[in-house]
Parts: sequence; structure tokens; C-alpha cells
Amino acid sequence: MADMMLDQLEVGKPVKIEKDGKTICVARVGDEVFAVDDTCSHSEASLSEGEVTDFKIECWLHGAEFDLRTGVALTLPANISLQTYAVKIDGNSVTVQI
Ligand code: FES
Repeated sequence: MADMMLDQLEVGKPVKIEKDGKTICVARVGDEVFAVDDTCSHSEASLSEGEVTDFKIECWLHGAEFDLRTGVALTLPANISLQTYAVKIDGNSVTVQI
């Protein structure tokens, strides 16, 4: 079952979803969609409240940036990668695969 509809996912406006006991940040970049752990690897901040630029998401709390494609922490204070999840897009349906 789809987690969300592509046309409801605004570019630059990540959303938070709960799935299989995990809290996941879903972000659209162009026609691609990426899913990473919602909790920043530095501390307890929700990345879905952060800002997306190109393929990066910036934590609103202390400014760490992560690559949405790989989960890699690009800037301090975070130095631990985020878990990423595959996203399947089928027409307008978006499904995060856990
Ligand atoms: S909680 Fe995200 S950078 Fe500190």
C-alpha cells in the first residue's frame, strides 16, 4: 500500500511518516523521492523540520547536513550517517520500503 501520493509531496517540504515502528523523513527532490531516518544522528531533532537544498537536508537544531541519497553526514556536528530507505514510485504512488 502506498505511503503517500507524489503530487501531495511538495519539493523542499519534507514530511515525517511512521512505518513499521520507524520514524522516517521523506523528501522530494524534483521527481525523485528519498527516505532517511527522521531523527538526526547528532541529537533528538526531527529532520523533517529541516531545510532541503538540492540533495541535502539540513538539521534545524545545529545545522548538520546530510546527503539524502546516501544518508552520509556531510557537516559537523553530525558525523554518523543516517539509515536510508528505498522508495518505490509507481505512477503517483510513493512507497517507502523497510
Ligand atoms: S540535532 Fe541535528 S545537528 Fe544537532
